[in-house]
Amino acid sequence: LVFDGMNMPPLRPLRENAEKRFTEIRDLECMKDDIILATYSKSGTHWIWEVVCMLIKGTTEYTKETKEFFFLEAIPDLDVVHNLPSPRPLNTHLPYRWLPKQLTEKGGKIIHVIRNPKDVAVSLYHHLVDFGAMNISFNQFMETMFMIPNPACAMGSWYDYVKEFEQAAENDKHGAILTMFYESMKKNPIDETKRLAKFLNVEASDKLIEDIVEKCSFENLKNADKTIKDQSIMKKIIDFAPNMDENAKPNMYRKGVIGDWKNHFTVALNEQFDKIYADEMKNSKLPIQFE
Ligand code: A3P
Repeated sequence: LVFDGMNMPPLRPLRENAEKRFTEIRDLECMKDDIILATYSKSGTHWIWEVVCMLIKGTTEYTKETKEFFFLEAIPDLDVVHNLPSPRPLNTHLPYRWLPKQLTEKGGKIIHVIRNPKDVAVSLYHHLVDFGAMNISFNQFMETMFMIPNPACAMGSWYDYVKEFEQAAENDKHGAILTMFYESMKKNPIDETKRLAKFLNVEASDKLIEDIVEKCSFENLKNADKTIKDQSIMKKIIDFAPNMDENAKPNMYRKGVIGDWKNHFTVALNEQFDKIYADEMKNSKLPIQFE
């Protein structure tokens, strides 16, 4: 199922009526302190979302049990977000052009997280295979779904998604968009979390920042995820593909490292990727790190 040039992921509201849900999101009534975490899939969404929630609440309690309900394209009924207390931490993988129009007009904020696309590709590949959504080799996945400029991936190509946000951030005169990099967050979590707090106008002590970083480390988030007994949330939002295992649970905490692509890319694939990347991103100034 394709909408606006993008293959729709198996999320029930999108499979039922993608245009309706996309339009509802674009027309969402916003509040002045709304926050939208905007990411291409597998760029660290769950991680940064948890950090954002902790900063807003000023605590180090996990919010993850309910998080899927703020995932705009997946929640069964978008009305749920109308009743959330402010500031509302929302989340979406929709491209920039489909974000709520009112958001920045009303003073809301966008956090855009970018991860190097080679690691995104590896992470997405495992996600889709583990989920039973496809059964192809990594090379096939790259050649037919991810690397090519006009791919069959959910929400379109990584290049287009990121370039659209880069343009939006350049045009952003009011400091409404914060661009973060997965790799910087991984290497300098304290500084990056402070930057995030400043962007959100949150007063956070050094101690709170340190505690949040610790609570949101890969290991701690992974362990916390295991303790969630009720996986029914996923069942409600995923429209299982025919060969998808009903009990499959996407592993959102697989390795959590920089550079796992080196274990998956052959030299030839890497050369091919670098060529396409150089062409697609030739006008981009984004400092994307692959190492
Ligand atoms: P890997 O598959 O490479 O391990 P998303 O939340 O957007 O789906 O992204 C998932 C990716 O972020 C996974 O990548 C996951 O392991 C990684 N991740 C989650 N929490 C992390 C953390 N605290 N530190 C580093 N990476 C993390």
